[in-house]
This record gives sequence, structure tokens and C-alpha cells, in this order.
Amino acid sequence: MTNYLEQNKQRFLDELLDLLRIPSVSADSTFKADVRRAAEFVKDKLTAAGLDGAKLYETPGHPIVYAEKIVDASKPTVLVYGHYDVQPADPYELWKTPPFEPTIRNERIYARGACDDKGQFYMHIKAIEAMVATDGLPCNVKVMIEGEEEVGSDHLGEFVKEHKEMLRGDVILISDTSIISNETPSLETGLRGLSYVEVKVTGPNRDLHSGVYGGGVANPINVLCEMIASLHDEEGRITLPGFYDKVTDLSDDERAELAKAPFDLEEYKRDLAIGDVMGESGYSTNERTSIRPTLDVNGIWGGYTGEGAKTVLPSTASAKISMRLVPNQTPDQITELFTTHFLSIAPAGVSVTVTPHHGGMPYVTPVDSVEFEAASKAFEDAWGKKPIPTRGGGSIPITALFEKELGIKSILMGFGLDSDALHSPNESYGLFNFYKGIETIPYFYKHYAALKQ
Ligand code: BES
Ligand code: MN
Ligand code: MN
Repeated sequence: MTNYLEQNKQRFLDELLDLLRIPSVSADSTFKADVRRAAEFVKDKLTAAGLDGAKLYETPGHPIVYAEKIVDASKPTVLVYGHYDVQPADPYELWKTPPFEPTIRNERIYARGACDDKGQFYMHIKAIEAMVATDGLPCNVKVMIEGEEEVGSDHLGEFVKEHKEMLRGDVILISDTSIISNETPSLETGLRGLSYVEVKVTGPNRDLHSGVYGGGVANPINVLCEMIASLHDEEGRITLPGFYDKVTDLSDDERAELAKAPFDLEEYKRDLAIGDVMGESGYSTNERTSIRPTLDVNGIWGGYTGEGAKTVLPSTASAKISMRLVPNQTPDQITELFTTHFLSIAPAGVSVTVTPHHGGMPYVTPVDSVEFEAASKAFEDAWGKKPIPTRGGGSIPITALFEKELGIKSILMGFGLDSDALHSPNESYGLFNFYKGIETIPYFYKHYAALKQ
């Protein structure tokens, strides 16, 4: 195994770079053909790795790629999930090298999708290839890589429901999250959910001269800003009535356990070039970004934003708002609660609409399972250290759906770093992480096959 990985190192990387050259941006229809090209690429590599029946499954959106290798029906089955679609790369001008021309600098691969999630799911294909080519797979494996994760996995639910038998397995293995650092490996035990809405405030029937009308009619941008500002109080708590009703507080023990994860606040501030952190009082930065729900504006627009000054009082103003959810909160309930409240605080003189976008359920995985133990042991073998359990702040909505539809738990064996700049310009993935991931994954199979007997 070690030899095989060593001998094929360069090819593994070259293949990943080829995949990164395909701009598979799921959100933007101009890239529709490229998204398909990425799916075809993945399909071919699954076949080359020794998996059977690799195929694209069409959906009303982007295709899902699936392949499997059943070595022995009496052995357990690992279902690997990942996504070959990527976030839009803009703003392009902030990239040091073009997002779809992967470049290696300082032992890192710079490209959109390098870490999220091409670099990470590709490790699985290479690990499977290595197992098949050397000692053989110790258990069955099914691989499902989708192309709509970054736009809410709208068609995956339907696919899962229609292919329950095909997807039947014992554990879902996902590399699409982060570790604390390369010195401190960790395993995420939960993800936040998501409720995402777009709001629009409409005032006068046209843009107005801000001198002639200013002061006399409600300005939709001013109004929107006030409405948004009112959604947090001075303690950093969200003011939507009922927002926290279902949120359960972690016990002191659980909080103390999570607080054991090393965290350097000064380094965190330095990395982001911020003078200080902020958030809900009574909680640490780590808690604020993982076990607590949030409300954030993701984009806001209206009026004149071009060069120079145009004196105009806009007719409309809009914003996109995300709420990260924690266990027991559901996107439907939170979206409804947001809508009711947001409409209720609209002042006379404007009209307000709220349009829901995609959402996702929060997810927690148990740590006392053989699945988690196998993952933990895999890290110990490859990294020489026991991974620290952490709770993640991002969302992978499909994890809750897998549990509901297939009754299987997900193991979040991610190898990225928060500083890999996911969704940002200059996204990157460390060569160390790519290769270490490929090395770690076979240990998971080994331990899982042994423990599950
Ligand atoms: N891989 C991320 C989620 C993630 C990143 C989890 C880092 C933990 C650590 C995933 O691709 C993602 O970006 N998900 C979206 C969800 C969505 C519905 C678009 C997110 O979290 O914004
Ligand atoms: Mn991802
Ligand atoms: Mn993502």
C-alpha cells in the first residue's frame, strides 16, 4: 500500500489538477456543460479505480455519479459521498492565479474546489484505487458524488428515495469538512443546518431624486438596514420571537469537552486581519461558530453602486440572509418564523417580500459507534494522534436526509483547514492534506471491516 501510494503520487495529483481545470460551477447555468464534463471525468476515474457500473444518473438539475464494488455481500458496506460541483469563483480579480488554472505554491494547490470538495472526494477515489490494486477492499464500497451540493442538493433527496436499495449501506463516509490543524487532527461530530431567505423592500414606484424627495418618503435601503439591524440585540442574540425555543443548551460537561480543542484567538484574529471577534455574549468563538445558531446578511444591494456619485433615492432594496441552525431547529420552522417577523416589522410606506431559498437540517453523529471508532483509529494510525471530536459550523444538508431515508449515520472525515479559504478567492488545499487523506482512508476501511464483524 505505502509503495503504491508513493509510486503513484504524481499521477494522483495530476489527475486532481485536471479535475480542477473543469469549472463545474453548479449555481451558474453558463457552466452547465462543464458541470457535466466534471461528472463524466469522475465516472471515468471511478471505473479506472476498479469500481463497477459507474454511471451518470440524470436529474432535473446536474447529474449524480454512482459506482460500487461489492466484494462480499456478507461484509459491511461503506457509502462514500462527495460533491464535484463548486462555488462560483468571483470576484475573479482577487485571485492571485486564475481559479480554474490550478497552481501549486508553497506546497498548496490553489484552485476553486481544491478543498471543497474536489480535492477531498478525489482522495477517496485514489484510496479505493490503491486498496483494489494492492491488498483488496476489506469491505464493500459504494460511491455517490453529486453536482448540486453548493446549490442545496435539490434533487438528491428524490434520487436517494428512488434508489434506496442501490444505496443501502452501513455507514456514510464524507470528506467535506475541516480539521483543527495539521498538528491537531479532529473529527467533526455535527454540522449546522441552514435556512436561507431573500428579502426585498419596495418603496416608491421609481428611483427618485434624493434632493427633491429625500426626507419625504421612506428610503428602502435605510428601511432595510434598520430592519436587519433590529434582528440582533446588544448581546448579539437574535431577536426573532421563538428563534431559540427549540435550541437546547449543551451541558457544562459537553461544553468543557469541546473547549479542550486548542484554539488560538490571537492567531485567529491575525489570520482574518480583524481587531477583535464579536458574537453572542456568554459563548466562546468556537461555540459561536458551531453550537449556536446565527443570522447573517450574505449580500445586500439597491440604489446606485457604480463609479462616482449618483444622487438617487432607490425604489427597492434587497438582501440575502442565512441562518445557521442547531439541533432541533428546522429550516421550515425558522424560515416561517423569520417571514412572519420580518413582515411584521415593515414600516408603513414600504412593502416587503420574503422568498425562501434552500435549507438544510442540522446533524449530529454519535461518538460511541464502531463507525466513529474506526475513523478515530484511522487518524491514529496515519497521524500518530487521536483526533479531537469537534462540532462544525458549516452545513451538509444531505447528512440528515441520509439518516431519514436510509437510516445510516455519516462520518465526517474531512481533511481541510478553515484557512483553505473555501468559497473565497484563492481557495487552496495542502498537498500534505491531500496525500495524508489518501493514506488515512484505507485505515478506516481496515478498522471498520474488523470492528463491524
Ligand atoms: N463543505 C461545505 C460545508 C462545510 C465546510 C462543513 C467546512 C464544515 C466545514 C459544503 O460544501 C458547503 O459549503 N455547504 C453549504 C451548504 C449549502 C446548502 C449550500 C454551506 O455550508 O454553506
Ligand atoms: Mn463541500
Ligand atoms: Mn461548499
